Amino acid sequence: MNQPESSLDNEISNPVTTEQTETLWPDSRAEFTDSADIEAKIDELLAKMPLEQKVAQMIQPEIRDFTVEDMRRYGFGSFLNGGGSFPNQDKYATREAWVELADAMYYASLDATYDGVAIPTMWGTDAVHGHTNVIGATIFPHNIALGATRNPELVKQIAAATAKEVVATGINWVFAPTVAVARDDRWGRAYESYSEDPALVASYSSNFVEGMQGKLGENFMAADKTISTLKHFIGDGGTHLGDDQGDARVDEAHLWEIHGRGYHTGIQAGALTVMASFNSWQGDKLHGHHYLLTEVLKNKMGFDGLIVGDWNGHGQVPGCTNEHCPQSVNAGVDILMAPGKSWKPLLENTINDVKTGAISMSRIDDAVRRILRVKLRAGLFAEKSPKQRAELFDKETIGNSKHRELARQAVRESLVLLKNNGGLLPLKPGQRILVTGNAADDIARQSGGWTLTWQGTGNQNSDFPGATSIFQAIKDQVTAAGGVAELSETGDFEQKPDVAIVVFGEKPYAEGNGDLDNLEFERGNKASLALLNKLKAANIPVVSVFISGRPMWVNPELNRSDAFVAAWLPGSEGAGVADLLLTDANGNKQYEFIGRLPFSWPRLPGQGPLNAPYQNDLPLFEFGYGLTTDDNNELANFSEATGIDKHQPKRQTLFNRVVTDPFKLLLKTKHEQKEQTANTVSVSGLSFRTIDWQVQEDAIALSWDGSQIAGLSIESPFPEDFRRFDLEQLMLEFDLRVDQVGDTPLLVGANCRGACAHGFNLKSLIDEDTIGNWQHIAVPYRCVLQNKEQLSEMYSPFQLWSAGSWQIQLAHIRLRQGDEVGEFEGCIKGESE
Ligand code: BGC
Ligand code: BGC
Repeated sequence: MNQPESSLDNEISNPVTTEQTETLWPDSRAEFTDSADIEAKIDELLAKMPLEQKVAQMIQPEIRDFTVEDMRRYGFGSFLNGGGSFPNQDKYATREAWVELADAMYYASLDATYDGVAIPTMWGTDAVHGHTNVIGATIFPHNIALGATRNPELVKQIAAATAKEVVATGINWVFAPTVAVARDDRWGRAYESYSEDPALVASYSSNFVEGMQGKLGENFMAADKTISTLKHFIGDGGTHLGDDQGDARVDEAHLWEIHGRGYHTGIQAGALTVMASFNSWQGDKLHGHHYLLTEVLKNKMGFDGLIVGDWNGHGQVPGCTNEHCPQSVNAGVDILMAPGKSWKPLLENTINDVKTGAISMSRIDDAVRRILRVKLRAGLFAEKSPKQRAELFDKETIGNSKHRELARQAVRESLVLLKNNGGLLPLKPGQRILVTGNAADDIARQSGGWTLTWQGTGNQNSDFPGATSIFQAIKDQVTAAGGVAELSETGDFEQKPDVAIVVFGEKPYAEGNGDLDNLEFERGNKASLALLNKLKAANIPVVSVFISGRPMWVNPELNRSDAFVAAWLPGSEGAGVADLLLTDANGNKQYEFIGRLPFSWPRLPGQGPLNAPYQNDLPLFEFGYGLTTDDNNELANFSEATGIDKHQPKRQTLFNRVVTDPFKLLLKTKHEQKEQTANTVSVSGLSFRTIDWQVQEDAIALSWDGSQIAGLSIESPFPEDFRRFDLEQLMLEFDLRVDQVGDTPLLVGANCRGACAHGFNLKSLIDEDTIGNWQHIAVPYRCVLQNKEQLSEMYSPFQLWSAGSWQIQLAHIRLRQGDEVGEFEGCIKGESE
């Protein structure tokens, strides 16, 4: 076994107390040499810029929602493409199409006919594990995997390679690295975090920044470099219960010691920008936090670059909307990220705020000074156009073989061997190998979120030219050595294999969509375990390869496996996995496992927050654990008791931004049925689309045209057991906004074994006043079921049907057990009552 590693260096593990806040937040200033010239140039520009142009420098629209003409007219200081947003909204956009848009925006920004002085714009993108919005790009392992390599130099090389692919598309700003220190693995962004260990994150932060921007005094912002962003300031990895966009309830010393280190080293390395976080600190949103943004980051730490807000993050500050938020500007956000249609009213309202005094002119000048400073330091004024820059690279830069080789190396160094009983690994390739599991031949799954689409969903293997699935990689090596590798989705086989490799894991997700309430893998739907059981019953030795964005509770799966590898989200180079699983044709090891856990591995599903050094809560595998194939380390079976039966959660989410696994969301008519897998879906009579309410895509809009009966149904492929609930105390709850009332009832019901009750008519719960407004609906589940026995087999716990022309918005559908439920008039009475 590798040497046990202590999680935190001594300095950090010393307990800090709040009395020490004076010494927190050390000066982090980087040694830029050219400051005097730059400040003089800024003074000159500021003197010539009209207010409108200054404010436009501070507004960042998104390419789906503004045009080159808007850029010419207003002269935005920057713009972005969000996850899964492409030139012309074409997922298959070529490199030339990206460059063309970059060039058009660049020249439009320089056109000063309407807006004052010629100032080049900047294009920001989320190249968080390679330039992964671009088809064919190298997809590097996600940050959690890089954490396992313990190799800061490799991180620097990956950042440099990513910068090249980015510049080759004409883009000059990357929203990475994420320097979050995830402290609760239930967080949907845990995989964007390098480690639970602040020291490791701190060393990676500076290396990433140097790789992406170049080294100060050497190749800083050379022709193949892009601007980088430390994100999300601050405490995103420390929120209560691991809630995305949640509240970090920690004291200031902890905020610095655990969550601040990556900013210190990243700023020292010259990071030009920092992104403010969606989360709150002790109840206050970071986007409105003057103390943390201005006093701490800018003043105490001496950060003199720019702070960019997150995706309409300003709109979440109390008293603000996406269209208007002087609070954020005053708190210290220099650029407001304004996707959707909000950029225009936001621009107008912010200009007006200066006129009314809600924002001071000096604050605007400070923000614009910072933006111009970044542009000057990055050399944007002196520079060639995006196209001329891109031309420095040859056509093959995107996804080139050198970058893929680097990604493959990163995969090899990141795999952590958790179990290897009987020394099963490495396998000789000259055998008959069965390859199975839901991630065996699925490049989308092995890549995770932030890959071609925001969530990483909706992608096929054919969407990844140049990439290799894990199965394909195994097959190539096995076939070359004279063996046989067979892919089987079900785990069935005709000829008994010598060994099986089962590759399985989490589906792709991003941000809050990945939040969990406990870490049990395939909770309530143990498909992978069933597969392992089947192979075990056939007496086949099993190697499990686990694809996931975080450590999970997999004790049953570990017990059924002879060898078990944590492979994280390896990305496009499946060959890196094969390199470790297989020997060469002569039976010699190709490479050894060197990856070590960057996060503690849970012993129980409830151990979301589990961090070294451990107090009473012991992990299954410690931070830093990782076997080599030379270790003779036989693991006995682990307990399969989840330890949570007694405290079964008294709530069940059915839909919250996405439908809860294992349920699916379907639209139905008598003759038609369609599963919802994208942002929009429709059947005759009813259409569905996702919309933004409080955060991105957290609500759905349903529109019935009144032509026939049509409905929405949340249902499971197997009946679900809800007997943990007490029907007498169970409420069905959701948030609802009715925009148009239909002329026939809108019925809420369910589908259970036997006949369910009649449900209720939503019309009975709305009146004139509530139309057009969000309201919280809570109805006794008794309206929906006839008796408590029916809770044992629920096919569909929620359905909505109508033949009228209703238009509604709906969010967060859940069951919640509360107090004894009293009388309720709304249930529809019928014969079955
Ligand atoms: C957008 C993505 C974007 C994400 C940011 C989504 O609603 O579709 O493009 O990256 O929000 O959180
Ligand atoms: C994410 C950021 C990202 C931005 C732009 C936000 O929702 O939190 O990490 O940079 O969207 O896509």
